[in-house]
Amino acid sequence: MGRVPALRTLISAEQIDARVRAMGEQIERDYPEGEPVYLISILKGSFIFLADLVRRFQRHSVRVEFMGISSYGAGKTSSGQVKVTRDLDISIEGQHVLIVEDIVDSGVTLSYLARVLAQRRPRSLEIATLLDKPDRRMQPVDIKYVGFEIPDEFVVGYGLDFAEDYRNLKDICVLSE
Ligand code: PRP
Repeated sequence: MGRVPALRTLISAEQIDARVRAMGEQIERDYPEGEPVYLISILKGSFIFLADLVRRFQRHSVRVEFMGISSYGAGKTSSGQVKVTRDLDISIEGQHVLIVEDIVDSGVTLSYLARVLAQRRPRSLEIATLLDKPDRRMQPVDIKYVGFEIPDEFVVGYGLDFAEDYRNLKDICVLSE
């Protein structure tokens, strides 16, 4: 029999809730009132963060769009190959764009994506990530909003997976064999 993976809570649902609330308030303050903000959620890991973050906005002109980018296979490490699996179907030219990610690890995905979106001439382009793992950075990424800096451990939950499992966990947990 294989060994059963163990889960240890790293960030509790309560801690996430408090931090996402503060991030939402700060982000909304940073954008001029009356100007729409496009939150671009990178599938799939960021879907829960996006859902919680967007509900912190008071303005109604906060728009939600999705992009699919894949840089990992079924394992725990990045393949280094970035692929757009689903592109935007709107133009972001002249708009305020905020990329919403669950985690920045090597930075390969985000540095690629930031380049791609910048070419579409948005009015502003910033990045919000719930988790940042700076120890593993291979490519620099300019992140404006970070929820939590975490150590170099493999985490799952609150949208993050291991081989597509564990996204449903309310806490962010370290997965170890
Ligand atoms: C994760 C995460 C980022 C990327 C970060 O996505 O959502 O997109 O990896 O890693 P990097 O900084 O090393 O590039 P993943 O490929 O696991 O896909 P998923 O969100 O669909 O689970």
